[in-house]
Amino acid sequence: MDPKIIDLPKIVDSRGNLSFFEYPNQLPFEIARTYWIYDVPGGEQRGSHAFKEQQEFIIALSGSFNVVLNNGEKEESFTLNRSYYGLYIPKMLWRTLENFSTNSLGLIVSDKSFDEQDYVRNFEDFKKLRNEK
Ligand code: TYD
Repeated sequence: MDPKIIDLPKIVDSRGNLSFFEYPNQLPFEIARTYWIYDVPGGEQRGSHAFKEQQEFIIALSGSFNVVLNNGEKEESFTLNRSYYGLYIPKMLWRTLENFSTNSLGLIVSDKSFDEQDYVRNFEDFKKLRNEK
């Protein structure tokens, strides 16, 4: 599957809006883990690695940031700035989160438990692995 923006339901209500996602209606995978990124100092980047197997879905619950994806040949940048859509990222894409706004909050759900062995942290290794496929 390719990376893609997934629009989420938005239940508009004068008491405050509500959005959600669940498998299999919005998410293409079952969630094994949830984490979030916050208090990012101006100018900092997160990520800059790939996962061999793990898939992710990222939402900017608050504020905004960019997710830059690289398949070893070309780069694509997605701006996340609303809490009613997110970015699905399949396995084996190099991904960097950057340009965080003040007080932004990034929610990430993944189909795998944490496993350092699933990370590819060197871009040259990543390109080699992509070419082997
Ligand atoms: P890392 O995934 O490298 O951060 P990012 O991609 O957002 O820049 O994780 C940073 C550290 O946190 C690393 O030492 C592993 C640890 N960590 C966990 O223990 N569990 C987790 O679920 C995550 C995402 C990270």
